[in-house]
Amino acid sequence: MRQSLAFLSILPLVLTHPTKHAYQCIDFDVPLSFQAPSLEPAFLPFKSHYDSVAFLQSLSSRTSSDGPSPYKGQSTIDVNVTIAAQFCFPPGRSPTTVQILSHGLGFDHVYWSFGGQNSEYNYVKAATAAGYSTLSYDRLGNGGSTKGDAYTLNQATIETEVLKRLTDHVRSWDIPCLSHLHAPTKVTHVGHSFGSQITNQLVSTYPNVSDGIVLTGYSTLPASVDFAIGTNFFLAKDVLPQIYGNLSTGYLIWDQQSQNQYLFLHWPNFSPQVLAEGEQNKWPLSISELLSTSVHNATNFSNPALIISGQYDGVFCGFNCTGVLPQARTTFSGATPFETYVQPNTGHGINLHYNSTGAYQVINNFLARNVKN
Ligand SMILES: *[C@@H]1O[C@H](CO)[C@@H](O)[C@H](O)[C@H]1NC(C)=O
Ligand SMILES: *[C@@H]1O[C@H](CO)[C@@H](O)[C@H](O)[C@H]1NC(C)=O
Ligand SMILES: *[C@@H]1O[C@H](CO)[C@@H](O)[C@H](O)[C@H]1NC(C)=O
Ligand SMILES: *[C@@H]1O[C@H](CO)[C@@H](O)[C@H](O)[C@H]1NC(C)=O
Ligand SMILES: *[C@@H]1O[C@H](CO)[C@@H](O)[C@H](O)[C@H]1NC(C)=O
Ligand SMILES: *[C@@H]1O[C@H](CO)[C@@H](O)[C@H](O)[C@H]1NC(C)=O
Ligand SMILES: *[C@@H]1O[C@H](CO)[C@@H](O)[C@H](O)[C@H]1NC(C)=O
Repeated sequence: MRQSLAFLSILPLVLTHPTKHAYQCIDFDVPLSFQAPSLEPAFLPFKSHYDSVAFLQSLSSRTSSDGPSPYKGQSTIDVNVTIAAQFCFPPGRSPTTVQILSHGLGFDHVYWSFGGQNSEYNYVKAATAAGYSTLSYDRLGNGGSTKGDAYTLNQATIETEVLKRLTDHVRSWDIPCLSHLHAPTKVTHVGHSFGSQITNQLVSTYPNVSDGIVLTGYSTLPASVDFAIGTNFFLAKDVLPQIYGNLSTGYLIWDQQSQNQYLFLHWPNFSPQVLAEGEQNKWPLSISELLSTSVHNATNFSNPALIISGQYDGVFCGFNCTGVLPQARTTFSGATPFETYVQPNTGHGINLHYNSTGAYQVINNFLARNVKN
């Protein structure tokens, strides 16, 4: 793969001074420019939902595994994007271990601080209370980051390259307003769902880039086609024209709150208000994100790895994670230690369930035990 780093700089945007809050954050944009391989779709861009729903039928057909690949090869493309990032830290300390947080499909970085500073669903609050700093960011196509081509740009390999560059950024301590602090000694990665898939690809491609990984809402079984079916491949521009009217037809979203529940939540283990808020803030996914993921052999990754998924995760466990997660050992055969954990009474969207703080403790205790400064 040819790569060039034409420029890499940072534009500080907001510095919040939340004296009454448990942690502080800095929001900033990271422009990135590099070259990366892009899969070339073998299907035409959708003209309308008639095309997208027909495509979903072909993906979910009984004989789909015998059908042609949705891609016909790859080419090298210029990736010239801006990533919206948020660095959060416990006040009054230099960061020692940073966690880089990659969200999944249907969310932006707010997945990691859901409900705000005082919310029990807020992972950043839990991690900073445990002494960590966090870098969350909007993946391509979401939040404040570039909303580019959903067919050729927003793909797993390119998003993995974005994550690699953000990691380099943290290691070289290129964070606005904080340059007077010491650089962190350890950089770890926590993902959810698609964010876990690209974290797997990251440590497969760059085994020494992470001092420890936690993959949530994940297994090494193929992601269920039920996820795609659950969205029904509605076009985001049709469902929410006032917000997503300018997005291309490659941006897809589900239509109803009940679909959100099906995809992410296990009743009665969540609050209806949380479902409503998640639905209110839903983000489209890109067709090529769904189609470009796979399990990447990460045998050369030798640092700690934890996989934690909800007992009732539908996307990666077919609504029953018992006994599923240890299969990932073959993918992470070098990880030391390698642990799995089934979070009880929880579905795919771990952070949105009543016992989210229980899961947060498992994650931060794992990192505290295994990634020493
Ligand atoms: C990337 O985009 C920025 C902003 O549009 C532009 O200034 C810059 O020249 C572009 N870089 C490349 C390598 O295309
Ligand atoms: C990872 O390995 C590469 C190639 O050996 C090396 O250039 C880089 O400095 C290493 N990075 C870390 C964080 O150890
Ligand atoms: C779509 O783009 C046009 C032209 O840039 C802009 O005026 C309009 O507000 C945009 N609509 C949405 C929903 O973002
Ligand atoms: C592990 O590293 C070795 C030596 O660099 C390399 O030959 C091998 O392909 C790597 N394995 C994987 C699965 O990436
Ligand atoms: C979940 O899967 C495990 C392992 O296959 C099985 O023992 C258990 O009965 C299943 N639970 C339910 C509710 O089906
Ligand atoms: C991963 O790659 C290694 C060689 O680097 C190989 O020995 C091992 O069998 C592979 N594991 C899987 C699950 O493909
Ligand atoms: C909450 O999560 C913790 C950590 O997984 C677990 O020990 C506890 O049993 C859970 N509580 C309930 C009610 O599920």
